[in-house]
Amino acid sequence: MNIIKTSIVLNRYLNTIRETNTKVTIGFIPTMGALHSGHTSLINASVKNNDITVCSIFVNPTQFGDSADLEKYPKPIEKDIEVLLKNECDVLFLPSNDTVYPNDYTQKSYDLNDLDLKIEGASRPGHFQGVCNVVGRFFEIVKPDNAYFGQKDYQQTVVVNRLIQITNSSVKLNVVPIKRESHGLAMSSRNIRLSEKGRQNAAFIYRSLVQLKEDISNLGLEQSVKKARQFIQAQKGAHVDYLLAVDSITLEPVKNMEDSKGIAVVTVVEYEGVRLLDNIILK
Ligand code: PAF
Repeated sequence: MNIIKTSIVLNRYLNTIRETNTKVTIGFIPTMGALHSGHTSLINASVKNNDITVCSIFVNPTQFGDSADLEKYPKPIEKDIEVLLKNECDVLFLPSNDTVYPNDYTQKSYDLNDLDLKIEGASRPGHFQGVCNVVGRFFEIVKPDNAYFGQKDYQQTVVVNRLIQITNSSVKLNVVPIKRESHGLAMSSRNIRLSEKGRQNAAFIYRSLVQLKEDISNLGLEQSVKKARQFIQAQKGAHVDYLLAVDSITLEPVKNMEDSKGIAVVTVVEYEGVRLLDNIILK
């Protein structure tokens, strides 16, 4: 695996490959490191479907509201390199802040149709604009054919889809299904902050989403969502931040299955002081 730190060297490397084989496909996985099985499922999807897989590790300051969170972000780079090697990644792009945001770079304000202000965005002002700035920069630098994002960050996938549309990008967005721990909890770098018992108990989040899907034929969407919310809220120590059925393009709340072509249920549950994200796609 090549470890490349500057965009000049990465361009030179990828251009040489593109010149020797015009049909070569490049898969790209942007990450902030601290890689877990959720990330490796993205890497595996890229390796399987592309000639070259590039993974970036960059803790993007522009998507953090709180600088303390940015400072605390884990950076186990040696371990991450091992994970990438084991999963046959071809290139690790490990840029500095100056490479991603050179002096002449001005942060862009993308017209995201308010997707950045809804759900997670409501409590994290600027977060999704920050994500779009870094993803936009990486798309310019790497010029991938395919980009891989995890379904776990559902709103992020909807926002990136919009970014691709409004920038007329030729990158194909690939959303990889959520990787779960054996008991059902969605994999996340935050899970290590749960106790062992908490990690097992927190499977109630996924169970409630599966049950919700089953309930729809009898109860309808609105009542099934209400029941799932009440079920989670009744678990000791759990607090539902939100649990909503939303349209998969606009992220507007949806009450009936007939109201939209694509519907997902998104939730954030606070448990043992950790914000746990999960979702299920209904159609
Ligand atoms: O999902 C993440 O880890 C980040 O938001 C991303 C896509 C790497 C951008 O910094």
